Amino acid sequence: MSEAMNSRILGLGHYVPERVVTNAEMTRLMDTSDEWIRQRTGIEERHFISADTGPSDLALPAAEDALRAAGVKASELDLIMLATLSPDIDFPSSAALLQRRLGVSGMPAMDVRNQCSGFLYMLATADAFIRSGGARYVLIAGAEVHSTGLDLTTVGREVAVIFGDGAGAAVLGPEPDTRRGILSTHLHSEGKYAEKLMVEVPNSRSRPRVTPEMLSGPGSRLWPRMEGRYVFKHAVTRFPEVIHEALAANGCTVGDLDLLIPHQANLRISQLVAMGLELPEEKVFNNIQRYGNTTAASIPIALHEAQLAGRVRPGSLVCLAAFGAGFTWASALVRW
Ligand code: COA
Repeated sequence: MSEAMNSRILGLGHYVPERVVTNAEMTRLMDTSDEWIRQRTGIEERHFISADTGPSDLALPAAEDALRAAGVKASELDLIMLATLSPDIDFPSSAALLQRRLGVSGMPAMDVRNQCSGFLYMLATADAFIRSGGARYVLIAGAEVHSTGLDLTTVGREVAVIFGDGAGAAVLGPEPDTRRGILSTHLHSEGKYAEKLMVEVPNSRSRPRVTPEMLSGPGSRLWPRMEGRYVFKHAVTRFPEVIHEALAANGCTVGDLDLLIPHQANLRISQLVAMGLELPEEKVFNNIQRYGNTTAASIPIALHEAQLAGRVRPGSLVCLAAFGAGFTWASALVRW
């Protein structure tokens, strides 16, 4: 039997496209206002790609930074994973495209399709590979290009104002001290709510997979469909539940936490969750104001920014938590 070990995040990176789209710019595209967007979501601006850019392109600089920070060469990776709901193309995977951009080959590369929980689903998978000895170094990247998939008119405004493009990445490796690194991960899914937040088209149930009827008229099925209030209600229940689950699994309490990094879905969701947990504001990291919801990229972007800001330091106890389409939700407790 090999010795028990943990996995640890060795390096982080993130990248957002240069183009900043303010709320004021959104008001030129649709009937909305800066005030509505700030009040309901906390978002002030987001980044959109300019042209011809896929999530694997955004993931590349994030991954390169994470590799550099980890001191790991791309050729040393044993596994590459990329989480996205907006893959570059239908197939092959965006992970395979990222592998090509990194100039390496041979090691497995796979996409994870778990929306806002995607980063934590990858973290759990990487952790299991490393603990079992199946991999030494694993790259996980969350990357999204939402802007090309949003209805940027008044019909789509409820969804369109929320999302932004971006990428974040982490390189994981073994941690011999089992009191440090990824302490535990907790994954959940409830597919019965699939219709509450979904993109239906293209789909393989239909031949061809996209028809003119699917695309025509307002409310085209090409755009995301979301029951905002319903999603909101579930999120504010599941976040605390899964955070408590992670703490309890490690014999910890909310008071032990140095920082909570919730998936950046809506500032109001984060604030309600923090209030319910009685976590002071300085123990919760939010950056949705500048990026909107970047889905699979949101946690690694936030984690990297928190680290750069000195809010995640050696010894910090950090809880990562996510909720999103599926519904899926997840958490991880990390001793930095
Ligand atoms: N600008 C201006 N008005 C808008 C708008 C926009 N971008 N989007 C919707 N509205 C309008 C609605 O049409 C509605 O008008 P009505 O009262 O005349 O019918 C009004 O604003 C209020 O809509 P409501 O649905 O009550 O708003 P809300 O307070 O629930 O906020 C969301 C809407 C989408 C911000 C909120 O429900 C939310 O964040 N839900 C969770 C979404 C989420 O996190 N998704 C990702 C999951 S990870």
